[in-house]
Amino acid sequence: MDPAPLIIDCDPGVDDAIALFMAFARPDRFDLRLVSTVGGNVNAETTARNACIIRRIAGRLDVPVHAGARRPLLAPQAVASDFHGPGGLGALSIPDAVDPLASGHAAQALVDTIMAHPPGAVRLAVTGPMTNLALALRLAPDLPSRLGPVCVMGGARREGGNISASAEFNIYADPHAAQIVLDAGIRPVFMGLDVTHEVRSTSRRLERIDAIATPMARAASELLAFSNHVERTRVGGSAAPLHDPCTIAWLLAPELFETRPAHIEVETSSPLTRGHTAVEFRLGPESPANALWASAVDADGVFNLLIESLQR
Ligand code: RIB
Ligand code: CA
Repeated sequence: MDPAPLIIDCDPGVDDAIALFMAFARPDRFDLRLVSTVGGNVNAETTARNACIIRRIAGRLDVPVHAGARRPLLAPQAVASDFHGPGGLGALSIPDAVDPLASGHAAQALVDTIMAHPPGAVRLAVTGPMTNLALALRLAPDLPSRLGPVCVMGGARREGGNISASAEFNIYADPHAAQIVLDAGIRPVFMGLDVTHEVRSTSRRLERIDAIATPMARAASELLAFSNHVERTRVGGSAAPLHDPCTIAWLLAPELFETRPAHIEVETSSPLTRGHTAVEFRLGPESPANALWASAVDADGVFNLLIESLQR
């Protein structure tokens, strides 16, 4: 099987970094054509810088990084630096010099990359606010007919929320962009908190990563240790959830997940429930399926994929 063309749109971010490592480490499966970044966990300049740092650790300077939207389409800016550290990569040391970005806005790079491949060829993982994808859809309305499988990390049903009682951060950060994506006929696979909260960086799993002597594994170990420190001190838990890598795991091994068709709508006007995802499984003419919702996951399988990547 030839490597599949892949784009990752992200806001690194500790778990975005782990997702990037998973993809960078699999040139046998992914022809990684573009990493695009967006403001989210930390500001847009920092997420772009962080993607370049992670790319160098992975030894994949062949992959262009394009910076994208600095702020949401309409909503006030939201950040999650409490969970990722002020620099967005936990306590990872930041080099003085960082490799350059490719020129041009991420939204245009998304359009150009997708349109340069046959219809249905390019896979897309979105692990941050969906602002760049929404802008790309406005630039090229026929993009949905050209895109291959799309997997996004976002939303919550059973799990309620993480940035608020009723919303998950990526959707909360740009609810209007998420609704534009849902209305575009793409039918993305949603990795919401209902599954990502099942994929935890337990000490047993981290010991397996600590035992791997590769630059990516050493960086991943530091990043995950930071996440677990935040989980213990801010959330009161013992093992942090691994959100964004679930998108790459689905692209690598969809059989690790149970998904079901859903009609998802996003709250875009209420300050109290901004970004809430109403995930409806009772489909009909008034509520046609516009997404696949991940409802169960083989968490050990996801971690085995991560460890296999970090060992390469
Ligand atoms: O809610 C989890 C999501 O928000 C993840 O993508 C994490 O990186 C943050 O962006
Ligand atoms: Ca993210």
